Amino acid sequence: MGVSGLLWTVRVLVLLQLVTGILGWGKEGHYVICKIAEGYLTAGALAAVKELLPESAQGDLANVCSWPDEIRFHYHWSSALHYVDTPDFRCNYEYCRDCHDSAGRKDRCVTGAIYNYTYQLSSAYPNSNSFSDYNLTEALMFLSHFIGDVHQPLHVGFLGDLGGNTIQVRWYRRKSNLHHVWDTMIIESALKTFYSSDLATMIQAIQNNITENWSNQEPLWEHCGRNQTVCPNPYASESVSLACKFAYRNATPGSTLEDDYFLSRLPVVEKRLAQAGIRLAATLNRIFASQIEIAQA
Ligand SMILES: *[C@@H]1O[C@H](CO)[C@@H](O)[C@H](O)[C@H]1NC(C)=O
Ligand SMILES: *[C@@H]1O[C@H](CO)[C@@H](O)[C@H](O)[C@H]1NC(C)=O
Ligand SMILES: *[C@@H]1O[C@H](CO)[C@@H](O)[C@H](O)[C@H]1NC(C)=O
Ligand SMILES: *[C@@H]1O[C@H](CO)[C@@H](O)[C@H](O)[C@H]1NC(C)=O
Ligand SMILES: *[C@@H]1O[C@H](CO)[C@@H](O)[C@H](O)[C@H]1NC(C)=O
Ligand SMILES: [Zn+2]
Repeated sequence: MGVSGLLWTVRVLVLLQLVTGILGWGKEGHYVICKIAEGYLTAGALAAVKELLPESAQGDLANVCSWPDEIRFHYHWSSALHYVDTPDFRCNYEYCRDCHDSAGRKDRCVTGAIYNYTYQLSSAYPNSNSFSDYNLTEALMFLSHFIGDVHQPLHVGFLGDLGGNTIQVRWYRRKSNLHHVWDTMIIESALKTFYSSDLATMIQAIQNNITENWSNQEPLWEHCGRNQTVCPNPYASESVSLACKFAYRNATPGSTLEDDYFLSRLPVVEKRLAQAGIRLAATLNRIFASQIEIAQA
């Protein structure tokens, strides 16, 4: 490849990164969440997941957890489903008030989408052979991705700044925006600084924390109200609360975010990745639970 070809490739990669940054945890974040989830799936749920995965996943859910970001140009209707905006400075979230797209269409937000794709999967899966009107492969990839997104605090940020997208900041010496810092930059800097740029090492460290430091909390993370298959509303409430406490704080437009911000926010990010992974697994286990009963009968 000539120099101009190389430059072009670099530009496309940079552009892709900017674009995916608008839409959710970056590729690494979603990969981490789905890898953690895989470790907590029941045998029955794992079998059901493998059956639904597209070939491109090569048998691994984590490989397709960024798929909804990749197809957003193609599926333009899906872009409002990655987040939910809340009223400025209220620091709270309410489904009825907040879950709609910019045209006001109800349920078109990340929590609405989580209900939608959970419903599609669970209505098809009391018996695995039942016909579905929906593409369940897509439903699985959307659900796995959106349970990740709803845990990114700025995916439940303020409407006025589009979840931090319009807050220009510097991340060390690089120009960025606050939303992108939380999707991608904190994780990237952590990889370089603490994990020798190795994602598997970072995943291992988070998994160790789940079994050691967070073992008391983990059952609470999984818990979902009476008989519910999925419960995204408390996750969204936690996110906006963390957005106010940690993401927006000391990150006004034009500020430079460095070690102080990075080191105090990284534990928040790592815990959100852990919670998202545990809750994705718990949700999939509940969705596919009836299949296990059938298999065991
Ligand atoms: C529900 O899923 C279908 C199929 O992907 C999609 O057309 C629809 O827009 C989704 N609605 C919401 C609120 O997620
Ligand atoms: C379901 O969605 C996947 C991913 O978009 C696609 O590859 C597959 O062809 C779809 N299946 C059907 C039956 O449309
Ligand atoms: C648990 O937390 C303590 C204190 O923050 C830390 O020193 C220790 O390394 C953590 N354990 C794991 C497995 O990360
Ligand atoms: C849970 O659902 C089952 C079956 O739909 C019902 O019999 C049971 O009473 C429900 N339990 C609670 C606590 O809502
Ligand atoms: C592990 O937990 C401790 C205490 O909660 C936290 O400070 C640290 O950042 C966590 N590390 C990882 C990799 O999750
Ligand atoms: Zn997303």
